[in-house]
Amino acid sequence: ESPRAQGSSLAGLDVVISAGGTREPLDPVRYLGNRSSGKQGYALATVAAARGAQVTLVSSASLPTPAGVRLVAVETARDLEAAMSEAARTADVVVMAAAVADFRPATYAEAKIKKTQAAPGEAEPEDAPVVELVRNPDILAGLVRERDSRRERSGEPGPLIVGFAAETGDAEGDVLHHARAKLARKGCDLLVANEVGVGVTFGQDDTTVHVLGPGGTLLAQAGPTTKAAASAAVLDAVEDALRDRP
Ligand code: CTP
Ligand code: CA
Repeated sequence: ESPRAQGSSLAGLDVVISAGGTREPLDPVRYLGNRSSGKQGYALATVAAARGAQVTLVSSASLPTPAGVRLVAVETARDLEAAMSEAARTADVVVMAAAVADFRPATYAEAKIKKTQAAPGEAEPEDAPVVELVRNPDILAGLVRERDSRRERSGEPGPLIVGFAAETGDAEGDVLHHARAKLARKGCDLLVANEVGVGVTFGQDDTTVHVLGPGGTLLAQAGPTTKAAASAAVLDAVEDALRDRP
């Protein structure tokens, strides 16, 4: 590990990290979710706390809360949005490591959705409900917008904002190509790209990350390695970016 990882290089800084997937309820017993384990966000929280930061972890994951970290439990993307917006007001660093559901069911059924039942002696009905989805807010882009408008009003720089991008390469381009486009679209300061696929990264203990900075510059790479080591590389880049700020 790098020598500065032993120091208290984030000492006293307010660091807010989102972690895990979100759950979008359909009815009281069912939800739409995703395979994010939350391990990357929890590893970041652990390393940031070890470096002396005051860490708030906004999470839907059911992992043990790292020592010294304040947990804000959330479930849906809209819960997450409200908690992040609130915590970001006083933050020095905001990291969106959560895998936010892009869509949620358009309606929530207050009572459990039931199958239609066959009449006595009739065949089992074939009908099934169609679930309509609506888009969730883009939390990261919203945090950047809020930070920038506060900055304009107060002159305070506001938090350094870090996004994540889980990407697979495709016919359009490789992981970094998609990540650079996402960085430009979201307007965050740093973007951490990781490679995903079946059995790669999601839920695993090892990961490969590429840290992109302004203009899509590749600032750091780590992996395949532990999520703790990847977190150290990401937080090194965060410290450098804070130091370089005007
Ligand atoms: N993100 C967010 N709100 C959303 C969706 C994503 O804040 N509704 C954040 C994630 O936490 C991550 C970054 O945006 O930091 C990129 O997420 P990703 O899912 O890779 O990007 P999308 O913009 O949703 O694009 P797509 O899934 O279509 O690739
Ligand atoms: Ca998405």
